[in-house]
Amino acid sequence: MFNALEALPPDPILGLTASFRQDPRAFKIDLGVGVYKTEDGQTPVMRAIKAAEQQFYGQENTKSYIAQVGVESYNDGMVKLILGEGHGALRDNRVRSVLTPGGTGALRIGAELIVRMNPEATIWVGNPTWANHFPVLKGAGLTIETYPYYDEASRSISIDAMLETLEKAAAGDVVLLHGCCHNPCGADLSTEQWGQIADLLLRKGLLPYVDLAYQGFGVGLDEDAYGIRLLADKLPEVLVASSCSKNFGLYRERTGSITAIAQSAEKASAAESHIANIARAIYSMPPAHGGFLAGMVLQDASLRAQWLEELTDMRNRMNGLRGLFAAKMLETGVEQDFSFIKQQFGMFSFLGITPAQIARLREEFAIYIVGSSRINVAGISEGNLDYLTTSLATVLKS
Ligand code: LMR
Repeated sequence: MFNALEALPPDPILGLTASFRQDPRAFKIDLGVGVYKTEDGQTPVMRAIKAAEQQFYGQENTKSYIAQVGVESYNDGMVKLILGEGHGALRDNRVRSVLTPGGTGALRIGAELIVRMNPEATIWVGNPTWANHFPVLKGAGLTIETYPYYDEASRSISIDAMLETLEKAAAGDVVLLHGCCHNPCGADLSTEQWGQIADLLLRKGLLPYVDLAYQGFGVGLDEDAYGIRLLADKLPEVLVASSCSKNFGLYRERTGSITAIAQSAEKASAAESHIANIARAIYSMPPAHGGFLAGMVLQDASLRAQWLEELTDMRNRMNGLRGLFAAKMLETGVEQDFSFIKQQFGMFSFLGITPAQIARLREEFAIYIVGSSRINVAGISEGNLDYLTTSLATVLKS
């Protein structure tokens, strides 16, 4: 049977990490996979998570299975983080959240749930979007269509074209949206644009499916949830796939949530039962460790304060690097204007350079960038900034 298989090319993002690790050049820079890094290029365990882990090891007395929906303190903390403590949907008891193996696991479970709710549903996905959205959604059997999202030439959101395209969606279709810190382009919807989208979704009977992988990395925890909260205010139903990989630094613990906001408590419970049933047929039970840790951090006042401080520092560092990068590129005298980098949010932006320039940066200068020209801003440091910007300028000028 295995003779039927041909080896696949490496994953466009994860394959880049593998190549970077093998590169012996000491001055190499990794601007590929979306992982937060400190000034010295490390991705340390957050101090709040470490403290939770120390407490947890003292308390943990079994490795028996947890509940099918995961860890209660985590699920409770997550819905409040996403919607805000006093949201009406929470008061009405029509929100259910289930712990999943990472944000990707959540996305896949949500996609399977959509297929159960409406096998005819088309899911509308922005162009561009995270490369892995396509296999995850297709894997569940969903039909995918794209809508324009970001215009590379003007470095702005193609809101008119987006709304015009979404007019073609049929009632019962689903629209995938990035909650904040758009991956890959870093261009987030304004409050006005969120309002326009919410109105369209409501009028056409479309379900918003929000991917929230970077809450707290853009402007702040509440600000980054503005869009989701608006949708939950205006629309009867919202589906959210969220991740604790980045904002809790729990990458390898695979900690995410699928959250259904339904029209009634009864339908929310029905959605929860289907989510558990879908997961049972794929991986049976959620992993526990990350959920326990994030749950402790969310519920304990002092751990939460520590976490917020660290998250704020991470966000400020990335925003600062955006400003430094734009200023340094201006100094190099290149024709291209990079000031947009400091107006965008989160870990990612497109440099807007060609595939040949991306290849040259990698081969000649050991600077690793995803093929779409997406950079992970957190991979920049004050230590590598000069080398990065002068190398980029060299490539752009020749
Ligand atoms: C990324 O986009 O780099 C991250 O979300 C990591 C991944 O799994 O691709």
